[in-house]
Amino acid sequence: MDPTPSAEELVPDQVHDDMYIAWTDRVYTDAHTAVETDAIIREGELQPGMRVLDTPCGTGRIARCLAEKGLIVLGVDKSSRCIELARERCSAPGDVTFRTGDMRCLDMESEFDAVVNWGVSFGYYDDETDAAILAGYRRALKPGGRLILQCLSRDWVAAALMARPPRTPPFIHLVTELDGDLLVDSIGFDPQSGRAPFVRHIVIAGQHARYSFALRLYAPSELADRLRRAGFSGIRFLHSKVDDPRHEYGDMRVLATA
Ligand SMILES: C[S@@+](CC[C@H](N)C(=O)[O-])C[C@H]1O[C@@H](n2cnc3c(N)ncnc32)[C@H](O)[C@@H]1O
Repeated sequence: MDPTPSAEELVPDQVHDDMYIAWTDRVYTDAHTAVETDAIIREGELQPGMRVLDTPCGTGRIARCLAEKGLIVLGVDKSSRCIELARERCSAPGDVTFRTGDMRCLDMESEFDAVVNWGVSFGYYDDETDAAILAGYRRALKPGGRLILQCLSRDWVAAALMARPPRTPPFIHLVTELDGDLLVDSIGFDPQSGRAPFVRHIVIAGQHARYSFALRLYAPSELADRLRRAGFSGIRFLHSKVDDPRHEYGDMRVLATA
């Protein structure tokens, strides 16, 4: 038996289906995305006119907002449905284009001033593939360009698991409720593989979907090591928070220079 499940089994495409998109449309309002984008610009020291690769871009909320602030943005996502929606939603001014593509095999060389990987979009694959993704980001950047990556903090999940009452199952449950609609994540953690098994339920207008996946969570020291191996330097973990009480996830942000 192969002990390493294939990437598609770890985080299946279905995890980002129409129900998930409908949920993120509800939670990530324009106001919320504007706060996140301001943080990306501030923390990444981005200037108007810089070229930015946003991948995976999902339905393009961050890419569009960056373009509205004067950056020249290419959004890339594996899901053709997301790219179709990203293009449809492009009514605001700004230089932004969208393309379907896979972050595991980017073919850009020294083209971008910044690469953005946002919204817990890293750790979907085995460690070797995650390393290849970081190497692809490094190649896509001009010398001195920055990677801005936001993922879920392993230490936050571990601390939350340790804080649960004694003799309760080894999961934390995160519930987000919006006017009767729900997202419930039950999250565990396997220290040996570094993966967090998730069971996610989304309920919107009485419709229910259930997803099961396993996200690789990195300790800051591990992620810094992976970034250095991919050729990055000047690695800095950032501590600013998105100021929105609905987002209680442990938010880990890192800035690295190519
Ligand atoms: C959690 S969403 C985040 C999207 C966006 N960054 C945001 O913050 O709204 C993750 C996205 O990753 C995309 N994705 C998953 N695997 C991918 C891959 N190998 N290459 C490109 N996109 C991928 C999914 O289609 C989904 O749109």
